[in-house]
Amino acid sequence: MLSNQQIEACRRQFPALARNVNGKPAVYLDGPGGTQVPQRVIDAVGHYLAHTNANHGGCFATSVESDAALDEAQCAMADLVGCDDPDEIAFGPNMTTLTFALSRSLARTWRAGDEVVVTRLDHDANVSPWVLAARDAGATVKFVDFRKDNCTLDLEDLRAKLSERTKLVAVGCASNATGTINPVADICAWARDVGALTFLDAVHFAPHALIDVKAFGCDFLVCSAYKFFGPHVGVQWGRREILEELTAYKVRPVANALPGKWMTGTQNHEGIVGALEAVEYLADLGRWVGDSKTLNRRLALRAAYSAIGHYERELSLYLIDGLERLDHVKIWGITDPSQFDCRLPTVSITHRTISPRPLAKRLAEEGIFVWSGNYYALEVTESLDLEPEGMVRIGLVHYNTKEEIDRLLRALRRL
Ligand SMILES: Cc1ncc(COP(=O)(O)O)c(C=O)c1O
Repeated sequence: MLSNQQIEACRRQFPALARNVNGKPAVYLDGPGGTQVPQRVIDAVGHYLAHTNANHGGCFATSVESDAALDEAQCAMADLVGCDDPDEIAFGPNMTTLTFALSRSLARTWRAGDEVVVTRLDHDANVSPWVLAARDAGATVKFVDFRKDNCTLDLEDLRAKLSERTKLVAVGCASNATGTINPVADICAWARDVGALTFLDAVHFAPHALIDVKAFGCDFLVCSAYKFFGPHVGVQWGRREILEELTAYKVRPVANALPGKWMTGTQNHEGIVGALEAVEYLADLGRWVGDSKTLNRRLALRAAYSAIGHYERELSLYLIDGLERLDHVKIWGITDPSQFDCRLPTVSITHRTISPRPLAKRLAEEGIFVWSGNYYALEVTESLDLEPEGMVRIGLVHYNTKEEIDRLLRALRRL
């Protein structure tokens, strides 16, 4: 668990948190849309541009140093996702673009009659790429429902939709709308049993909990550094043998070897170096809370996420308890503390009389930043009959505090 002193020390590293709005400190509850960035990440991006800015593969100093930094970023991402082979990592502009590219390659292996399974709890970036790819291949898409009472995946429905025709199961590690954590290790095992590949969207999961592709048993996993304290860069992991076998849509001068095969065009080098530094920020937090400067990066990340998880659980309890005391507010998702292992501190609400956008605007006037709408989790809001207005999302990360939650609750009470 992170102490108040450790949280304060974390907060001091994020310059954005010093911002004031209308004379009051800004409260950033918009983490699921993109977290703030520590100074060391900002410095790493600036340092790259000032000192090692060069294209890939040159024989002169800046290019050699730039390539060394990019190689180290591959290693850092391998540690973040828990794989042993840094070449299994590919960077790209964002998760959505990486997923569309991979979906084209996978669709080449599908035929009419094949099936692809997606869920109604997912962000559309883990739905539309597969729907469009299936359409191109003549394959069928099956949608897994979720329970409307607590917004957890209907696992019976999921199992019923698997068959020997299933080629791919695409599912999120956690919902960016309701905070629900999905049992992805079980889902991957069920998919494996029918011979299907699995694609996990860890974008919403990554700032809160340890990714572990070995324990998950998945074939692909994607995340985005701007959701875990880094710049706008997407990250893809895939099993080496599958990445090698698939045909990538790439230009001819790029070798067919990993990882370059999956990284089309010139990459956002400064962003990738910033993403590396975001992982280092988390690892150093782990070394601090684990009281061991010598922890290797993966073990340090494990320690960091354990501490973050405990702290965020406290915040979730505090927030949900406070929201439940407001009788004009409805929470969409898990509210039973005994099920908090299955949720992240991302809480979507609706207000009985104020629509999501005006509610978010009124909170913004008080310096409280929340998202409104469907946050691209379109199937969620459609299933809950909440389109077109959606919900208001309160997204906590480890730099948030109980005092900030108090300010939110006071503002909601006043409305
Ligand atoms: C769960 C989830 N998946 C995918 C995405 C899309 O990620 P990107 O913006 O990197 O394309 C988001 C972005 O909000 C998300 O929250």
